[in-house]
Parts: sequence; C-alpha cells; structure tokens
Amino acid sequence: MSQIRLDKIKKSYAQQVILEDFSVEIRDGEMVTVIGGSGSGKTTMLKLMNGLLTPDIGHVYIDDTDIQTVDQNQLRRNIGYVIQNIGLFPHMTIAQNIAYVLELEKKDSSFIEKRVKELIQLMNLDEEILNRYPDELSGGQKQRIGIARALAASPKILLMDEAFGAVDEITRHVLQDEILRIHQQLPITIVFVTHNIQEALRLGERVMVMKDGQIEQFDKSEQIQKNPQTDFVKLLLSYR
Ligand SMILES: Nc1ncnc2c1ncn2[C@@H]1O[C@H](COP(=O)(O)OP(=O)(O)O)[C@@H](O)[C@H]1O
Ligand SMILES: [Mg+2]
Repeated sequence: MSQIRLDKIKKSYAQQVILEDFSVEIRDGEMVTVIGGSGSGKTTMLKLMNGLLTPDIGHVYIDDTDIQTVDQNQLRRNIGYVIQNIGLFPHMTIAQNIAYVLELEKKDSSFIEKRVKELIQLMNLDEEILNRYPDELSGGQKQRIGIARALAASPKILLMDEAFGAVDEITRHVLQDEILRIHQQLPITIVFVTHNIQEALRLGERVMVMKDGQIEQFDKSEQIQKNPQTDFVKLLLSYR
C-alpha cells in the first residue's frame, strides 16, 4: 500500500495552465475514483503521480518520498498504469505481454512463468489464452490483460485512466466487479479515472470531482450523493 500526495502543484503545457496550487492526498490502500469533464486535468494529474509528467512547481510524494528523487524507471515499474485501448504489444503473445516488466527486471524464467499463471487466475482468465496474440482477444479480455500486465511486478499503486471506456456496458460491469475484487484481495492503492458517474460512485471509496483543473468535491461516495457541494457535482449526479 502507498500514500500519494500532490503538494501545491502547478502544471502547464506551453502557455496553458492546467493545474495551479493543486494539492491532494490519496490514502494508503484507498480506492479513489476521479471524475470530471473532458479536459479537466484528470490525465495530467495521473501522469504527475507516476512521473510521466513533472510539475512546474510543487512536489509529488509517495510515502513521503519526493518521486523526483528516485530512479524513474524503477518508480514506473512500481506503479501499475492502465489506459483505454492499452497498447498491448501486437507482436508479442499474451504471456510475453504480461511478463514484459518482469523480463525488464531480469526475473528468472521459472518465477516469470509462475507469476504469469497467478495473474491469469487473478483475472479470471484461462491459461489457454497465454499463447494467443492481442488481436485474437475480445475487448474485455484485452483490458484484463492490460490489468494483469500492470500488476505483474506487484506494484503498490495502480493508476487506471478511463480503462473501461472502450468496452460494452455488460463487460464494463464485469470488469468493475473484477477491480473491486482485486482491491479487496491485494493491498494496493488504486486511482481510477472515469468519465462515467455511475462507475465513479460504484467503485470509489472516495470520489474526486474535477472541473477546470480544480477539485470541486472529494468525498465518500455516499457523501457526494447525499451532499453535493457545487452545481457541477449536482449536474453530474443528474446524469446517473
Ligand atoms: N501534451 C499536451 N500538450 C498540450 N496540451 C495538453 C497536453 N495534454 C493535455 N493537454 C491539455 O490539457 C488539458 C487537460 O488535459 P487532460 O489532463 O488530458 O484532461 P482530461 O484527462 O481530464 O480530459 C486539456 O485542455 C488538454 O487539451
Ligand atoms: Mg484524460
């Protein structure tokens, strides 16, 4: 488990300021969902958390260590990252895709084989799938493999960016159940970005609502529903 803390961050692209004086804390082992309009800075926030972006001003801490002071490759291997239509490597088998980070870490082959099988079981998939290639899988299966790959090196943090955005409603629901189960089974902190209000409320222990680079409300899911603090939060709730 790990705590993530963004402290007084400013982040801009060229002239455009996206986040300013932005601070937030994700608790150890929490499952947080992040929802907001397109362009509100959700992806930017997530990429600051794993060092894909660096703040112009301010600091990102994981368990009180400024992430800029640690090895960036090591950092990213210890943070799982799942995006929509995740780039599974098309020329690699599913087994090779899942094992990718473990190969980078030069784990021995018996360890890798065992770990890949564990992950396949964790994701409720059949081992028979391991020798296939990504384009021989359904959208939901691919997304599961993306999660398995992100979890391969047993990260303490899992970041998910609209990971279930490209699958049908039924599959989305099944994947939601999976991620809830995984969060119960594994001691990890999950930050899950979505543009779907039902998904945000269903999955998040706490739900962060963002608008124009600001946090409108960050509260327990029940609390957001019972006590929306701004017109924007009320509007979002009306889309349920
Ligand atoms: N690499 C980039 N260069 C310039 N502008 C960007 C870049 N990435 C994102 N932006 C802009 O920053 C704003 C926030 O983007 P983003 O964090 O991706 O929002 P969200 O994930 O909430 O849709 C948007 O206006 C977007 O166009
Ligand atoms: Mg985004």
